[in-house]
Amino acid sequence: DAGKGEYDHYMLKEINSQPTTLANTIEGRVQDGDVVFEDLPEGTFADVETVQFVACGTSYHAAMYADQLLRSAGIRTDVVRASEYDSMSGPVDENTLVVAVTQSGETADTLDAVRTASANGARSLAVTNVVGSTAARETDDAVYIRAGPEVGVAATKTFSSQAVTLALLSQQLAADVPDVSPPEDSDAMLESLDALPGHLETVLENSNAESLASDLIDSQSFFFIGNGLGHPVALEGALKFKEITYEHAEGFASGELKHGPLALVTPETPVFAVATGSDSKTKTNAIEAQTRGAPIVAVSPDDNPLVDVAEDHLTIPDTHPVWAGLLANVQLQLLSYYAADELGRSIDKPRNLAKSVTVE
Ligand code: G6P
Repeated sequence: DAGKGEYDHYMLKEINSQPTTLANTIEGRVQDGDVVFEDLPEGTFADVETVQFVACGTSYHAAMYADQLLRSAGIRTDVVRASEYDSMSGPVDENTLVVAVTQSGETADTLDAVRTASANGARSLAVTNVVGSTAARETDDAVYIRAGPEVGVAATKTFSSQAVTLALLSQQLAADVPDVSPPEDSDAMLESLDALPGHLETVLENSNAESLASDLIDSQSFFFIGNGLGHPVALEGALKFKEITYEHAEGFASGELKHGPLALVTPETPVFAVATGSDSKTKTNAIEAQTRGAPIVAVSPDDNPLVDVAEDHLTIPDTHPVWAGLLANVQLQLLSYYAADELGRSIDKPRNLAKSVTVE
């Protein structure tokens, strides 16, 4: 318990440590405008034609984030739930890079998927937090997210560090893979990365997530929507919420709300709408839910048009859209934490869950 310091739970400590842990993740990895990973020299991915991410849980959401970034750079990529790898992987060969995204490096489903890919000739890379973990040892290369040990079962700081590491890795892939070039706004994205720990500090100091959680805690279900890079953030927001509050929460791509979930929407189902860039689908679909009585909470910068229609707002500083999703996610981490605290849940060790699942 001494390790919790001034905090009631490891989870809150870990959420609050993110300005420091992210600074650690970033340190030395952007030099003179270029991405630098020790042990992965420039050109190391020159033979890669296809990328395939495999991951579970929160790590899967970080992988979804990276998958979108690679897609927008024009790289053929896929993200596969590790537990479904046997049925979903499709063909791989020596020009396929399989990226195992796993905080612990010990998740059985992820290890099994990457072993299958390697046996079929793919090149493998682990993106992990744990030096010497099974994933790091068994793959061809490893990149460390440098988030420090995470005690709370619900992943928080490791998600942020994974997403940043993967965004940087996407830049290197886009630079190395032939006939592909990094997206036009890459320089702006890399330049704005230095400010991210400071923006996180701002979110942590000013968040109104605690009072919002208290206002909404008696609701029946909690929905999280987002499109583009907001989609994985919405899924992660819902996962975090259900993991530690034991309340019913679901995440959707904004446009999917009307294809079924809308039947569940009532004044008792607040909708947290992650809007971090040019996500007009999120606003129109949030309004559909609002028309059915659902309170809308915009998770967005102040100038997002969604703020004008939403009942409540979890604000984030203005930054590059790639980093904005991570700031929105921290607001949702705080929301889940305070909701679970109000309900008196076992926050650091939620029932039925394990930090690392070593069985398939
Ligand atoms: C467990 C944890 C989740 C985690 C998942 C993947 O289910 O409870 O929080 O996201 O494993 O873990 P990994 O170590 O592979 O990232």
